[in-house]
Amino acid sequence: MSATYENIVVEKDDGVTWLSLNRPEKRNAMSPQLHYEMDDALRWLAHDKDTRVLILTGKGQAFCAGQDLKLYFRETQNNPEERARAQQASNSWRWHRIVNFPKPTIAMVNGPCFGGAFTAVCACDIALAADEATFGLSEVNWGVIPGGIVSWNIAEMLSHRDAMFYAMTGLPFDGRKAAEIKLVNYSVPLADLREETLKIARILQEKNPFTLRYTKEAVRHVRGMSHDQAYNFLAAKLQALQHVDKEGGMQKGMSQFLDDKSYKPGFGAFKP
Ligand code: ACO
Repeated sequence: MSATYENIVVEKDDGVTWLSLNRPEKRNAMSPQLHYEMDDALRWLAHDKDTRVLILTGKGQAFCAGQDLKLYFRETQNNPEERARAQQASNSWRWHRIVNFPKPTIAMVNGPCFGGAFTAVCACDIALAADEATFGLSEVNWGVIPGGIVSWNIAEMLSHRDAMFYAMTGLPFDGRKAAEIKLVNYSVPLADLREETLKIARILQEKNPFTLRYTKEAVRHVRGMSHDQAYNFLAAKLQALQHVDKEGGMQKGMSQFLDDKSYKPGFGAFKP
């Protein structure tokens, strides 16, 4: 399936789907219409057979300059129904749809990333940035708090010191710093970012998709559980995986390692 949008672009490349915010002239600031389109795209991409890995990024020089201050805030301030609809779509795609996406997700932060864009970065399983990218929790400069769930995102993702420092000062930081404070996994020069991101996507693409899905759900959901809850949850999850795994990953892997001696798990995925 495919669809045509005005504010985003979906591009498929042999199993990897690039989902890009596409308002480069406004640094990909998020308008209500962009939110509706992202919410729609992530809904069908979740079940799209051509999509094995999803990369979220921005067209042009920016990743995303946060909420569109004119279209999202000013133009809906006297239209509570439209504001509520936009808010619902905004929260839906930036968090729920990405977190629950059944395939691996990578945020590729290619340039400015501000405010509400942090939520989408935190929602992705993996995040890479350009060394030159600029991150900023600029809300304090607008007289607002990091809302939506941005404060919750940074409290969960960053150390208390870094979350407080960047939220309270509003000071921008670059991709290298984002990697140092673990907002992203690592950064590379902008010139290498696309190729590096695709390399990681191809590694994920080769793995058993059922195992990947259950792995990301396991790691995501054990946060906040007690040891006993996690032990119980993971045991049930493993059982469920063996039930749904149409590729029989565990049996196949063991047979390739123990019987055929054709595969060493330390070096990669089993051969389907
Ligand atoms: N909302 C609406 N329009 C925006 C936004 C935004 N968040 N960000 C950029 N734009 C528009 C600019 O107004 C400008 O429009 P114009 O050409 O009609 O004048 C256009 O995008 C290009 O922006 P520039 O500022 O000229 O681009 P530059 O590359 O110099 O700077 C940067 C990019 C750093 C992202 C700058 O635009 C900026 O600081 N934007 C605001 C970032 C921000 O604080 N976002 C809000 C976070 S709070 C929240 O999300 C709740």
